[in-house]
Amino acid sequence: MLLHTINEVRAQVKEWKKQGLTIGLVPTMGALHDGHLSLIKKAVEKCDRVVVSVFVNPIQFCPGEDLDKYPRTLDADNKMCDDAGVSVVFAPNPNEMYGEGQMRTNDFLTYVIPPFFYVNKLCGKSRVGHFDGVCTVVNKLFNIVQPDYAFFGQKDAQQLIIIKKMVKDLNIPVEIIPCPIVREESGLALSSRNKYLSDEDKKEALVLSKILNNINSCYKKGVTDVEALKETAYEFLNEHHELEYLEFMNQEDLEKVPQADNNTRVFIACRVGGVRLIDNILLGE
Ligand code: PAF
Repeated sequence: MLLHTINEVRAQVKEWKKQGLTIGLVPTMGALHDGHLSLIKKAVEKCDRVVVSVFVNPIQFCPGEDLDKYPRTLDADNKMCDDAGVSVVFAPNPNEMYGEGQMRTNDFLTYVIPPFFYVNKLCGKSRVGHFDGVCTVVNKLFNIVQPDYAFFGQKDAQQLIIIKKMVKDLNIPVEIIPCPIVREESGLALSSRNKYLSDEDKKEALVLSKILNNINSCYKKGVTDVEALKETAYEFLNEHHELEYLEFMNQEDLEKVPQADNNTRVFIACRVGGVRLIDNILLGE
């Protein structure tokens, strides 16, 4: 069932709660691919009813980013959800979510602001305000859908860690279920932004997974010094790649580590053909 208004979703949720059914939420920005489908399947397996939100959230895009050209494929998304056994696809428009004229400024809108320690690094460094927008919309979705479980992909690992922190700090009654990264056979992590890549760029984009896999095999052979592990990345980089960051952090609290262990997640962001791509790996996996 495709719903566009908050009131319709609330009415449906009320009905489900009355019947004692468990509710799963899969928040998305649409342009659904097999990565999303793996989250949806997990949610359908675990919960009595599943809501997939499809909302290109304007307040998490920074000026100059791809808000206008972000792929919008609601009909196909709705069909994929239907086929997968989703109960409700919630696709509001920006005015429904934020009220007319309220967006893009916290002069008028109440924001949820995650801690600076978690956002002044990795994607948050170049995407200033991005995680304020993410936490604000996810919090609103939690309030609207009141899910027992919410499903997020490990691909956006910083986002997942920040959302877990928000849920803990604000005592939000939802269990966050992390879902593994889904990759093409080539190793490329699935992302809605892969649609921007040409065939040639797609080959070049393998640099992210190649660097991560190579670091992981060096780690498995006994190299734990982070500077030494970082060094191994350079043999893969060429003029087609613009490395934004390669960081080694504790996967619980995003603290940088000088020595890697099995709790270290390696994060990479790299521009390929002008498209900003991210990936990550947990060492030892
Ligand atoms: O990961 C995404 O697609 C978005 O950041 C999310 C969680 C749906 C919030 O808009």
